[in-house]
Amino acid sequence: MCGIVGYTGSDTAKDILITGLKRLEYRGYDSAGVALERTDSDGATQLDIVRRVGKVVGLESELANMDDASTCGIGHTRWATHGRPSQANAHPHASCDGRIAVVHNGIIENFAELRDELEQRGHTFRSQTDTEVFAHLIEEAYAQEHDLMAAVREACTHVVGAYGLAAVCADEPGVIAVARKDNPIVIGRGERGSYVASDVIALIDATRDVVVLEDGQFARLTPEGIEYTDAAGKTIQPDITHIDWDIDMAEKGGYPDFMLKEICEQPRVVRDTLVGRLSPYGELDIDELGLTFEELNLIDRVYVIACGTSYHAGLIAKNLIESWARIPCEVEAASEFRYRNPIITPSTLVVAVSQSGETADTLAAIRDARIKGAKVFGITNVVGSPVARESDGVIYTKANKEIAVASTKSFIGQIVSLTLLALLLGQVKGKLTTGQVRMLFHELGDTAAQIQHILDTQGPAIHEAALACKDAPSALFVGRGMGAAISYEGALKLKEVSYLHAEAYAAGEMKHGPIALIDPGFPVIAVTTKSPTYDKTVSNLKECEARGAKIIAIATEGDEDIKQIADYVIYIPLVRDAFSAITASVPLQLLAREVAVMRGCDVDQPRNLAKSVTVE
Ligand code: AGP
Repeated sequence: MCGIVGYTGSDTAKDILITGLKRLEYRGYDSAGVALERTDSDGATQLDIVRRVGKVVGLESELANMDDASTCGIGHTRWATHGRPSQANAHPHASCDGRIAVVHNGIIENFAELRDELEQRGHTFRSQTDTEVFAHLIEEAYAQEHDLMAAVREACTHVVGAYGLAAVCADEPGVIAVARKDNPIVIGRGERGSYVASDVIALIDATRDVVVLEDGQFARLTPEGIEYTDAAGKTIQPDITHIDWDIDMAEKGGYPDFMLKEICEQPRVVRDTLVGRLSPYGELDIDELGLTFEELNLIDRVYVIACGTSYHAGLIAKNLIESWARIPCEVEAASEFRYRNPIITPSTLVVAVSQSGETADTLAAIRDARIKGAKVFGITNVVGSPVARESDGVIYTKANKEIAVASTKSFIGQIVSLTLLALLLGQVKGKLTTGQVRMLFHELGDTAAQIQHILDTQGPAIHEAALACKDAPSALFVGRGMGAAISYEGALKLKEVSYLHAEAYAAGEMKHGPIALIDPGFPVIAVTTKSPTYDKTVSNLKECEARGAKIIAIATEGDEDIKQIADYVIYIPLVRDAFSAITASVPLQLLAREVAVMRGCDVDQPRNLAKSVTVE
């Protein structure tokens, strides 16, 4: 959480910082700030620190009157961890003398001890943040070293925790010192200067060739170039990663918000995630798995570990892996898995699913599983992310950059990738023939056109259903099998973007408690697609209808009977039950967005959330 950006070169720094911060707002948006170098009337360099509570647009207005002279600075957009959102807690934080400023993404676990020690040595703190200790530690080290990069390196030796850090010092104009441990840092060199950010999206205007800094590496940026060093200060030559998507992906492209744009991109995500995955002979090609067929054949237990929406993709995968490969599969919130003592043997496969590839709990669970001897396979959307780098193998979901905080297209990419994995396991275990795999693969590909059909035809029905929900105090999502799994995601989407309370239940569980909630007009959103349990779900809905519930059904095209109990019907094409989660999720995403828009919510940046959750 939190986004950092820095620039040193020949252009106006404040403009580059603001553009970068706006693109990083998905990482946090409760306050923002910059530190810019300024040359005073005596020719000396000073740091101007400007901070604002709220989104980057507020900071932008504040900077509008500032001159354009500064060509070096750092910026930050915050998701509060230590200290409430306030101007004092907004980054950058400065040393006592105001000549050093830092921006930080991460958590300093030993900040309380460090703060006590620094205060005893005479430092004055002005915020409640953990980050501020970095400014004072660097200040002390700088007094000895007289070199910003060396001072940052020294400060890092005292810190326990995670950081992506950038620092500037008025006594070294044009220099930005950068450090990384467990939080992302990308660095790029453009024609007009050197850039650093938490995410490539903030510097892609300048370059597509970037360095993804590794833990324990440091960088010193100047207008003329970048020097990379290790913890001992020795020069290193890092690998260059080429980014193959362009900035259009990070623009709304005529859509009112990123969430809608990303929902509409889902047919492409299905197609791109499947490209090149099936040989002409019907063999699945998932080489990135890093396991031979013999090793795959030995797998006797699968854990899918993930958080939030990615966890819901895991619920769908469980159904597929167990039914196609007949391997027991458990799905666990990574935050629980990491603190349990799960049964792991060398024949256990752990599948870690994470859009961002940097979720703290998922990463910790990966590390734990590998120590215990499991093979870990990552499914992520971000090339070179920690999940990709720390797993034995990885599939990229090909959703491309997802900006809206609510995951939509990456969820579809995750389901498609997990479906490929389930097909592969089924094939290797001899439970699916090559012919069956080929047929299922092609049906999976057909969902791209089916999603497009839903997008093209169901807008009016979804609008009507949203009107029926928007003023309700709460809503229930129900379904069975795949319908239950996707209901959990439907409820999460509605909660996170519209702030309307929602819960999901397996439809058969309703009569064991939740049905007590139903009173006249209570919205029940039911996934009642044609499946082996269709009739059972309809029976459960009748019980809700009898108590006055307002029923919104996601149903299969041609199902006219459902209209007898449902007040609103959103139709989706007939697909095999195994793929119904892919198609049924689309109207649920659109419904959540529509309700949120009607309720006046910011669908791209819901309150209290951040897209990358890099803290426990
Ligand atoms: C999705 O809409 C949520 N914002 C959230 O639940 C998210 O899926 C979760 O934080 C996990 O993130 P990850 O996929 O990047 O690991």
